Amino acid sequence: MTATLDQTAQVERDRPEHRFTFGLWTVGNPGRDPFGGPTREPVDPVDSVHKLAELGAWGVSLHDDDLIPWGVSATERRQIVDRFKAALESTGMGVGMATTNLFGHPAFKDGAFTSNDKKVRRAAIGKAMNFIDIAAELGAEVYVFWGGREGTEAGVAKDPRDALERYREAINVLSDYVVANDYDLRFAMEPKPNEPRGDIFLPTVGHALHFISTLDRPEMVGVNPEVAHETMAGLSFHHAIGQALWAEKLFHIDLNGQRIGRYDQDFRFGAEDLKENFLLVRLLERAGYAGPLHFDAHSYRNENAEGVWDFARGCMSTYRRLAELAQHFDSLPEVQEAFAAASTPELALASVDGDEADALKAEAWELDSLAARGYFNEKLDQLLVDVLLGVR
Ligand code: GCO
Ligand code: MN
Ligand code: MN
Repeated sequence: MTATLDQTAQVERDRPEHRFTFGLWTVGNPGRDPFGGPTREPVDPVDSVHKLAELGAWGVSLHDDDLIPWGVSATERRQIVDRFKAALESTGMGVGMATTNLFGHPAFKDGAFTSNDKKVRRAAIGKAMNFIDIAAELGAEVYVFWGGREGTEAGVAKDPRDALERYREAINVLSDYVVANDYDLRFAMEPKPNEPRGDIFLPTVGHALHFISTLDRPEMVGVNPEVAHETMAGLSFHHAIGQALWAEKLFHIDLNGQRIGRYDQDFRFGAEDLKENFLLVRLLERAGYAGPLHFDAHSYRNENAEGVWDFARGCMSTYRRLAELAQHFDSLPEVQEAFAAASTPELALASVDGDEADALKAEAWELDSLAARGYFNEKLDQLLVDVLLGVR
């Protein structure tokens, strides 16, 4: 560890607004894909904690099976958790979120909370309960539900209304469990349109937000949107985050890189669509989002262990740089002028003040003159591009 690296780490830890976290499964990703086996060696979670601390991350996140291999004895389980806790304590690293692997075990091939088999559904809820206990012990602030296998290829096999009812039941039972145990933990639903299932239930942020409003304890549950997932659906991630913030439901976020129309790529944050990422970072910073900034991404398959840490550094430095650029953009007088010309600040004003029916009806006749104005979006958008290109 060099002196420069030490200083960077210190600076980052002192900036609570940038609580960067990485999943154990992200830096530990061995480079497997559907066409080929691993290209990298497995990584010890304790080594990931140390290395990420050295690089300036705030913490980690994890699935149960990332830390505790499936099938180990209760004694081994205890030893593994204690060793991991010691690594967190010695490095000062936090746990942003914890979650259950409800997709890897072959029993979950038809779904977990929404499997047609009641026994599978019960085992899935029990598996989540077991790790919620550990999550609370590790001080995780959010518990995520990503329904990777909650879906179908054969739409005829599941009535979606029944599946959603079972999904709701599972989240209700688990939120009761958290409350009964007095755990300080909130839930976040992670939407995804497809992959690994042909169609996944709760495919977008909008679907998840509505689902949350139907729960017994809606105040305990928010969303964990992921760049790649909304982008796979061809949607604007910036708008999805806007709606989650507006609903006060952005409990966690998964940052990565993705191109529309491709498989779930999980590239380094900023590797694709810098403009959309700029809008995203500007929005998060302006909204004062204080939750973990979690990179759910992995290094390219053709990288070795060294490339993994280049990947991790890149995710964090791109976020930081975009945050600086967003501030710079807003500080430019020509940008403020362009905002005024576009009437951007006016959108924050209420349209109607009290009972104004007569005035509104009279103003309806002004549409022809209102049509003549311009909104100068070309100039405003080009200023953004200029800032991204470094020419302003
Ligand atoms: C994916 C998902 C997952 C989840 C993770 C935690 O597409 O594979 O993004 O990485 O985020 O399982 O819930
Ligand atoms: Mn993903
Ligand atoms: Mn994710």
